This record gives sequence, structure tokens and C-alpha cells, in this order.
Amino acid sequence: MPMIEKEKIEEIKRSTDIVSLINQFVPLKKVGKNYRALCPFHSEKDASFYVNPDKGIFYCFGCKKGGNAITFLMEYEKLDFPNAVMYLAKQLGIDIDLTKGMKYRELYDVNELAAQYYSLCLGKAVGKRGALYLEERKIDPGKVKDFRLGYAPASGGLTTFMRQKGISTERLQKAGLMSMGRELLRDRLIFPIFNLSGRVIGFGGRGIDDYIKPKYLNSPETPIFKKGEILYGLYQAKTAMRTKDEAILVEGYFDLLSLYQNGIRNVCAPLGTSLTEKQAVLISRTAKKVNILFDGDFSGIKAALRAIGVLINAQIDVFVTSLPEDNDPDTFIHKHGVEKLGQEIASAQDFFQFYKHVSRTETVEQEVTVIKDLIQIINTIHDPIRLDRYMKYASRVFNIPVSALEKEIQPAQQETPKPLDEKITQEQRIIAMMFNAPDLFPVAREIVKPKDFKEGAIRDIYSLLLKTDTFDVDTIKNAQVRQRIYALIMKSEPLDREAFSQALTRFKCGVEENRIRTQIREAQARGDEVARKKYMKKLNDFKQKMLNLPVETVTTESDVAQ
Ligand code: UTP
Ligand code: MN
Repeated sequence: MPMIEKEKIEEIKRSTDIVSLINQFVPLKKVGKNYRALCPFHSEKDASFYVNPDKGIFYCFGCKKGGNAITFLMEYEKLDFPNAVMYLAKQLGIDIDLTKGMKYRELYDVNELAAQYYSLCLGKAVGKRGALYLEERKIDPGKVKDFRLGYAPASGGLTTFMRQKGISTERLQKAGLMSMGRELLRDRLIFPIFNLSGRVIGFGGRGIDDYIKPKYLNSPETPIFKKGEILYGLYQAKTAMRTKDEAILVEGYFDLLSLYQNGIRNVCAPLGTSLTEKQAVLISRTAKKVNILFDGDFSGIKAALRAIGVLINAQIDVFVTSLPEDNDPDTFIHKHGVEKLGQEIASAQDFFQFYKHVSRTETVEQEVTVIKDLIQIINTIHDPIRLDRYMKYASRVFNIPVSALEKEIQPAQQETPKPLDEKITQEQRIIAMMFNAPDLFPVAREIVKPKDFKEGAIRDIYSLLLKTDTFDVDTIKNAQVRQRIYALIMKSEPLDREAFSQALTRFKCGVEENRIRTQIREAQARGDEVARKKYMKKLNDFKQKMLNLPVETVTTESDVAQ
């Protein structure tokens, strides 16, 4: 991931006007200090999506999504963090150096030259092992020219080649092709990875010897190479996918090449990870139907089940071709020929039948689980007509009245906003209060210690505040806590100095009281009467002191706890 300097991010956050940003996507109406709209993240009749310009945040009281300008872009435009920051930077005219001193053009150039180098090697004596391996795997180089396969010699050589072209090892390092002073890919068959315009953006490498670990090694992500945002073979398959309006999705590089050289060209593959939302969207732009052709083993089936949900969500018609257990498409072709594979592909099951088939159930309870799972997948379909069609189909396949199926999905669809307050803890209130009045943070710093917070997420963010002084709710990893904090920030007003320190003091007293009460309980449990009495006295003294202390003067930790 590219590094964007922290200061830049802060500058971008500070300079962004969240209201005009969100207004580009969702029409906002002013209500009091806030702006309001129908929530873009869930369907609703009454507007419960709020934007607060002063605090730079949004929050939906219906679906409880909240965040700042960057998270809004990430959610709404499905951008990753660096790209969301880029988007804002571009709008603001702020320059950011995303590539650690390397321009996009340079990155493309380095990748292109590397592809040339690996491909050159494959044709020479130094690439003999690669050529033999291809032969062994029955790939005909002439038929897969479009993929520009290559070989990275065990002895390296890329560095020297690049030096002759005027490219330093530092540049290679930044492009991900060198790490720790060594060339990344050695004694591997090389699969250049292309973006949709046919430019090389990264590489996959298959170890020539089977004992080499990992079997496949990809070059790392760079600003031009995001594994979850591209599919292997998509560039080469695009035209065929469009013509057939169908894509065949395979798991591996060799599966893909094997099909391709046998004339089945509408094939693409995710890059060694499970299919992402973005990849599904990419496919949906070229083909309306996807035929999943994964390995026949258990992990292939699991991967297929996962992919189904992602594809359905991208409004794609999903079919699945099942292979025998110990086969992947590549081995199947070698064993049974491409015609037979063609037949299998043509008689793929729709995802319902596949689901039913792989989860052949033995008990009624299991069957219920399968149906419910499937209904939840269908429920992610946005298009009401397609949703209706699938529901009717499910009703036929499983022989269940549509009305019963509809009951099953109702809770997820209605999303009635619930009152927020249920699970809000005092600790969350306290931290939200700090976020709302950053200029009073020095007061908090004096009174509250991280260990005063019981909730891990709150303790972490408070420790971070102490260390960095930057108020970023997004560093809270626990999504629920994060959302609650956003809600609280949105709902509450900044306190003045006096109220602020009073609230903190009250909180601190509570913490201290609890601490003493625990000591009492522990002494009691030990049967240590002396200690118990001591702590009882401590508790009484403490209470007495609190009663007598004018609140405003309680500003340091030592006044409160002793
Ligand atoms: P498989 O392990 O099924 O590999 O992984 P394969 O394609 O059958 O490989 P061969 O036939 O043994 O050469 C499927 C895909 O998952 C990714 C690769 O893209 C591979 O093609 N993968 C696999 C990795 O990225 N890293 C690994 O270590 C293994
Ligand atoms: Mn495989």
C-alpha cells in the first residue's frame, strides 16, 4: 500500500468541506446546524442521514453508518483508503506523492521493462527450465502469446538489465520487484498481470520446482496494482466475454491458460484470493452471466459458495460447473479432453441447484439451514424484479410458499431505526465528549488514565489520543463501538470547560470507587478482615473527600485518586 504522509491526510481532512462533498452524491437539506438526506446506504422513507459540517462527520440514525469524508467515499464510491484520499486531494488541488517519489508512468515503465526481460529469458538458454516446465504443463507458448509469459532465472539478472536501461535498484524496490536487496522472483515461471488497458501492472510467479514455497508468488501491491481490483486474464478475455455475455471464472493461472489455448477464451481468474466486490463489478461490466469453474475439492466448493454471494450482489446471473473431486479445469482437460469440459460447462447448474447439490442434507434441520442461507444470499439482490424472480424460483426448487420465504427476509429489509441509547456506555460518552471538545483535551489528559477505561476499544483510542493528539474515530477497529461514537459525536454539543472537567471528575470518582470496592470484595474473599476494614475506611474517606471537594478544583489525578 502506498504511504501517504500523515500530515497530508490531516491537511486533506481539514480542508475538505464534507457538506459539499456529500452533496455531490446525495442532495442534502439544511436542518439547524446539520444537513439531512435520505440515507444512501440503506433504503428508507424518512431521512435519518445527517451531516455535520463543523465536526466533518456524517451519521445515519437508521443504519448506524457513520464516518468522515474519507470513509464516506470509501463506502459510497467503493474506494480504498489511498484512493479516497487521492480523490479529495484532487478536488482540493493538494499534491500528494502517492508512490513514494515514483510517478505512475515510471511504475508502468518498470513493469513493462520487467515483462520484456522475463519474456526474453524464456526464449534463451538461461530460460531453459522455464520452457521445459511449460512443455511439461502442456502449454503451447505460440497459443498463449497474448499473456506474455516469461521466466525469472534463478541467478536473477533483472537488476543488471534494468541498470542498462537506466533504472536504479531503488526504483525496482519501489516497484516491488526487489526486496531486501534481492530480486523477488527467481526460478519462477512468470505471469505478467495486465490492467484493462493491457499495461503490465504486476507479476505472478510459479516456482519451477514443486517444493518451492510459496508455490505462487505475486509481486506486492503498488499504486497501480491492487489485487482485489483486477482479474487475471480479464484484459485478454474481455472481447470474448462481451460477445458471449458470459464469463467463466477459474481459480488458477494454469486453468486459465489451458482453457484459453483450447479456444475457450472468455475466462478470467481472481488473483489467488477470494473474489472481491470490485472484481465482481468489473466482470458485470463485460458479462451478465458468470459460470464458476473452480477446483472440484472441498476448498473449491467453499470458494464457489463465497463467490456466488459476491456475484449475485453485483447483479450477475450465476451458474456453477462442478468437477470431480480431484480435478481442476486444467487436469480435467488433460484427462478427458476439452470437448468433455465444454459439455460440462454448457450443462452448468444455476447456483440454486448447485447449492442444493453440495449441501445434500440428511436432516430437516440441515435443510432448513441451507434454505435460510440461500435466502440470505438472494436477499442481497437490489433489483426488485430480479429479487422477485429468484424468490419464486426458490419457492419452486424447495417447494415452499413464497410468503414463507418472504417472512424470512423481512427483518433485513425493513431496517426500522431503533432508539440508539441501548448499549451506550458511560465510557463511550466520555470519549465522545473528548472528541467534541478537542481544545479541552489537556484537562482530560490530567485526570483520566487509559487504565480507567474497561472497554478495550475505548482504552486503545484514548491511549492513541494521549500519544498523538489527533482525533480520529476511524482508528477504532470495533465497528459497533466506532458507530456508537460517531452517533454520540453527532448528537452531543461540546461542553464548556467547567462541565467538561466535572464530567471527567465524576467519571474518575466512579472508577476509583469501583477500584476500592473490588479491593474490599477481594479482601472479603480472602477472609482478610484487617484488609477489608482498611479498604472500607478508604472508601468512606474517599466519599467524604468527594463530597467536600469543590468540583472545579479537582483537576489532577492526584486530587482524585490516592
Ligand atoms: P492452486 O493451488 O489450485 O494452484 O491455486 P493451481 O492453479 O492448480 O496450480 P498448479 O496447477 O499446481 O500450478 C489456485 C490459484 O491460487 C493462487 C494462484 O493464482 C493459483 O493459480 N495461489 C495458489 C497463490 O496465489 N499462491 C499459492 O501459494 C497458491
Ligand atoms: Mn488448482
